Amino acid sequence: MNTEIDTGDRPADDAGEPSGEGLWGGRFRSGLHPAIHDFTNSLPFDRRLVRHDLVGSLAHARTLAETGVLEGEDARAVLRGLSALLEDVEAGEVRVPEGGSPDEDVHGWIERSLRERIGEPAGRLHTGRSRNDQTAVALRLWTRDALVRLAGAAAELCRAWIDEAEQHRETALPGYTHLQRAQPVTLAHHLLAHAWSVLEDGRRLRSVHDAAGVSPLGAGALAGTSHDVDPERTAELLGFEQGPHPNSLLAVADRDYVAEALFTASLLMTHLSRWAGEVVLWSSTEFGFLELDDSVAQGSSIMPQKKNPEAAEVLRGKAGRVAGRLSGFLHTLKGLPFAYNSDLQEDKEPLFDAMDTAEESLRAARVLARGVRWRPERMAEALRGGFLTATELADYLARRGVPFREAHEQVGRAVMEAESRGTELWELPLEVILEACPAAGEDVFEVLSPEAACRSHDTPGGPAPGRVAEQLEEARERVDELRTWSRERPEPPVVRFHRSGALLEGLA
Ligand code: ARG
Repeated sequence: MNTEIDTGDRPADDAGEPSGEGLWGGRFRSGLHPAIHDFTNSLPFDRRLVRHDLVGSLAHARTLAETGVLEGEDARAVLRGLSALLEDVEAGEVRVPEGGSPDEDVHGWIERSLRERIGEPAGRLHTGRSRNDQTAVALRLWTRDALVRLAGAAAELCRAWIDEAEQHRETALPGYTHLQRAQPVTLAHHLLAHAWSVLEDGRRLRSVHDAAGVSPLGAGALAGTSHDVDPERTAELLGFEQGPHPNSLLAVADRDYVAEALFTASLLMTHLSRWAGEVVLWSSTEFGFLELDDSVAQGSSIMPQKKNPEAAEVLRGKAGRVAGRLSGFLHTLKGLPFAYNSDLQEDKEPLFDAMDTAEESLRAARVLARGVRWRPERMAEALRGGFLTATELADYLARRGVPFREAHEQVGRAVMEAESRGTELWELPLEVILEACPAAGEDVFEVLSPEAACRSHDTPGGPAPGRVAEQLEEARERVDELRTWSRERPEPPVVRFHRSGALLEGLA
């Protein structure tokens, strides 16, 4: 066992050459202390940005070549070198190291790798650009891709719920307020409530995707650049629909799209946790509205009879984790001065973790949703004993001219009578109903059953079969639209150039 404690007091005299690995170092006499290098190093996590950073670099280089800032052989060498590196990274031929590298971030790694491939011209790539605008570009591109993947996964989960809803248009169960049985609804109606929540998350994911479509390139370190960099063109090459950022100070400091992505992921997870909590509750013996297929439930190591809804519990738990990422990141941003500060480097891990967690949660939720076996007979049992159609009776009396307050009072007496007889309202003899509610007629039984109650609640968004059919159709359309949007996102034009070998086309 190594008992030597590194107090960090030793000078960095063994650090050798001034570092910065070619990115800086000119004004430094000694190297960076290894502990500080390790502490500030973002390569272990920003290595995930390698593809997006290469794409940003390609757009920057192509624009410099178009405006003539990069010329002739230099321009071609840089573009070919970046393109080959991207190809190798995508093919898995080249991997960014996870640790033990001299580079302080993925941007440094890329520049060094390019230098190893093409030599001196690699040093010209950074003309008119800073790592501050560079890192912001890469993270925007990464975030947009992650949002698209999440939207696709959200659509698939909604589809699973809608498919189930389709099968259960007629399955009645109690709807709850205060977790007390309130009024009958159908299972289709209930499942669609979950689907609409997540469809709205899909809309939010798209809107954050749009908001992130602003290009920081041209902002330089903070104050723009004197080089002819053509930010409109780089924005176009990167597919940033909104063009260059309106303010260079904000361009390098702006992480609002990260906060928005985190919020959207958090709210989505909150919605998943509501559903997951319901799966836990409904699979309990007390509720028993559903049973989980063996493929989505787990057993106990000691209690042989147990079947635990663990996937649902883990899902519920992950919501807290993602909300924590949002909260943590807002604290990172709070009070930061303009423009770039290294605190902002702490944007990546929360974002990566939140987006990964939300995506895997959506995929697990879909499998779980498909593994639910409904128990309509238990739902039917739950419709008994709670006098869920008492409101129907009051409404019926009100329609026959009894003031609603008075009807409410009368129905209360009918409920008391049914309770003392141990029967349902619809099982009471007409004479008994008439005693409590003198305005009732023989047709009173038509409003008293749960099915009749659902049928008569024919307001928009209500549980009446026709309304649910409308909802099903509309929700399906929304799912298809979200899926198509997610599948058919065009790649940034510069990526298309790269893939088709057209990166050098039209250059002098
Ligand atoms: N590694 C940094 C980040 O992740 C990028 C470089 C920022 N610029 C700087 N001068 N440190 O945000």
